[in-house]
Amino acid sequence: MQIKSLTASLALLGLNGANASPLSRRSYTATPCKKTSVAILGAGTAGITAAQGLTNKSVTDFIIVEYNGDIGGRVAHTTFGAHNQSYTVELGANWVQGTVTPPGPSNPIWSLALLYNLRNTYSNYSSLETFKQNGANDFTDLTAQYLNAYSTLEQDAGYILTENLQDRSTRAGLSLAGWKPHKNPEAQASEWFQWDFEYAYPPEQSSQEFGIINYNTTFYQYSPANNYVFDPRGFNAFIKGTAATFLTPNDPRLLLNTIVTNVSYSETGVTVYNQDGSCIDADYAICTFSLGVLQNDVVTFDPELPSWKQMGIATFQMGTYTKIFLQFPPDQVFWNKSTQFFLYADPVERGYYPVFQSLDGPGFLEGSGILFVTVVDQQSYQVESQDDETTKTQVMAVLRHMFGAANVPDPIAFMYPRWSLEPWAFGSYSNWPPGTTLEMHQNLRANLGRLYFAGEATSTEYYGFLHGAFFEGQAVAGEIADCITRGTNCSGEYNYRELHGTTPLSEYNAANGWDVSSFLTYGLSA
Ligand SMILES: Cc1cc2nc3c(=O)[nH]c(=O)nc-3n(C[C@H](O)[C@H](O)[C@H](O)COP(=O)(O)OP(=O)(O)OC[C@H]3O[C@@H](n4cnc5c(N)ncnc54)[C@H](O)[C@@H]3O)c2cc1C
Ligand SMILES: *[C@@H]1O[C@H](CO)[C@@H](O)[C@H](O)[C@H]1NC(C)=O
Ligand SMILES: *[C@@H]1O[C@H](CO)[C@@H](O)[C@H](O)[C@H]1NC(C)=O
Ligand SMILES: *[C@@H]1O[C@H](CO)[C@@H](O)[C@H](O)[C@H]1NC(C)=O
Ligand SMILES: *[C@@H]1O[C@H](CO)[C@@H](O)[C@H](O)[C@H]1NC(C)=O
Ligand SMILES: *[C@@H]1O[C@H](CO)[C@@H](O)[C@H](O)[C@H]1NC(C)=O
Ligand SMILES: *[C@@H]1O[C@H](CO)[C@@H](O)[C@H](O)[C@H]1NC(C)=O
Ligand SMILES: *[C@@H]1O[C@H](CO)[C@@H](O)[C@H](O)[C@H]1NC(C)=O
Repeated sequence: MQIKSLTASLALLGLNGANASPLSRRSYTATPCKKTSVAILGAGTAGITAAQGLTNKSVTDFIIVEYNGDIGGRVAHTTFGAHNQSYTVELGANWVQGTVTPPGPSNPIWSLALLYNLRNTYSNYSSLETFKQNGANDFTDLTAQYLNAYSTLEQDAGYILTENLQDRSTRAGLSLAGWKPHKNPEAQASEWFQWDFEYAYPPEQSSQEFGIINYNTTFYQYSPANNYVFDPRGFNAFIKGTAATFLTPNDPRLLLNTIVTNVSYSETGVTVYNQDGSCIDADYAICTFSLGVLQNDVVTFDPELPSWKQMGIATFQMGTYTKIFLQFPPDQVFWNKSTQFFLYADPVERGYYPVFQSLDGPGFLEGSGILFVTVVDQQSYQVESQDDETTKTQVMAVLRHMFGAANVPDPIAFMYPRWSLEPWAFGSYSNWPPGTTLEMHQNLRANLGRLYFAGEATSTEYYGFLHGAFFEGQAVAGEIADCITRGTNCSGEYNYRELHGTTPLSEYNAANGWDVSSFLTYGLSA
């Protein structure tokens, strides 16, 4: 479907295909390209933050191009619920992860949540009941055992970083720290709740060094809290609020429903071609497309991306995280309304409908009868490729094992998104694979002439998080605005054509996306 429409639009462009260079194109194209200083590709957190960052530095000549009919990107919601009792539920990002510990710095997303008055509640991961196939079964002691090994895992990650040692998988790190779940279903479920639920990949496919950096810089810098956002306007009210500080209603600088198909870049500018035949000539461009979009060749780059950039794109991982929503008759709620999380240990398959979360509890959507279950990675691909009925049957079988068949009525509403199939995302958020260096990440992040990259995946420390997308958008905007206002030539790139097996401590610097202050703050000076 996607390929067909792309081909169709290229056929349209075929008229001037041979003359696509910026100089010759003008005389052959019916409508000339729009001209702008900065083309911002994507109106998610990174794109809107970048646009505000440019505005703050008095660069107002930009155009934002967005695939969807609305802004927000992977912060997206819908209404859910039967009998016209609809509740707003978040399909994508849901938590502010790490809030603030005064007098320390605030997570910028937390500041925005406060600024726009987003309704939220602290998620209490200790408010947990555990289940096996035959019902309730307390194995919460296994979580304590895991956390004990985790403290060794994080210290070892500190040595890997400061002593320039080889990275390894979190699985290897956990094993060395004494955590060996083997095939014990309860241990696996406990581990899933602590690891996969955050990274959307199992420990085997996650870097020990960067997985811990990612956790430390968020939860030790800001706060250990995860605050669940459930605002009737949707979580993306913070992105819309931000956009409203510089965009007027129907601002011509925002092109919605516009799909970028080709990007040609050089040391002097970038031309962006869209599926509808329109194009934009820009002095600079910021590509905020997800790693999934870059990996799936949705956009064709001209010239072809150099091998160092292709390697960066291919090496990092795009995870998938799927929330499956169920609503039960509110007067027949069968779970403990005082408990937030219900962990299920499937006897056969690790990660099979493992974590159920109640929204019908104090501080959440009381009286809603809503419960949702999260799957990631292989289970996400499975669930997203099968129909709703099949998934519903599987989830209901699990709930009836957990709570007893007689207690669990049929749901009155059922729904889930399919992130791995969305052509504007191709997954949920990125993850850092084992044994992959900071240099390789810089290659994913680096600009190509006047074409810059920003988004959650380009964040060295906060990849996967909203604040990662925020900081990357802000940083790139600052860089480009400086080039424009100072009139300096900023086409230089900072990348590694020759990669090394490890990255020395001295390369953990601002040029590689590392926030230097974090060295002193999170146990790394020791
Ligand atoms: C299910 C899920 C749960 C998550 N949970 C959390 C959480 O609890 N906390 C947290 O901090 N983060 C969470 N995240 C991650 C968070 O959503 C992302 O880090 C963040 O939204 C990424 O912002 P971005 O600007 O980098 O990318 P995006 O939001 O993807 O923005 C890129 C934009 O580019 C557009 N685009 C793509 N292709 C094209 C094209 N060809 N032409 C034109 N436009 C295009 C897209 O439509 C999109 O609007 C979650 C994500 C998902 C999906
Ligand atoms: C867009 O990319 C395709 C290759 O995928 C190429 O055939 C076409 O000429 C490109 N169009 C433009 C306008 O550059
Ligand atoms: C723009 O400036 C405002 C006001 O100082 C500030 O709150 C906001 O965070 C800035 N935006 C960015 C992206 O830096
Ligand atoms: C929902 O509301 C509409 C009008 O507001 C009404 O026509 C419809 O019957 C209602 N449906 C249910 C299931 O209550
Ligand atoms: C979290 O839940 C646990 C277990 O129910 C409880 O002991 C603890 O007080 C709760 N913490 C907060 C901050 O509510
Ligand atoms: C993470 O934090 C722990 C606890 O402060 C510390 O021991 C460890 O060195 C840190 N690791 C990294 C990689 O930052
Ligand atoms: C429900 O959860 C609360 C808080 O965790 C707990 O105190 C209570 O015993 C639970 N009730 C039942 C019936 O399990
Ligand atoms: C900027 O530098 C590049 C590469 O060195 C060069 O090709 C280009 O002409 C320069 N642009 C300007 C405006 O000086």
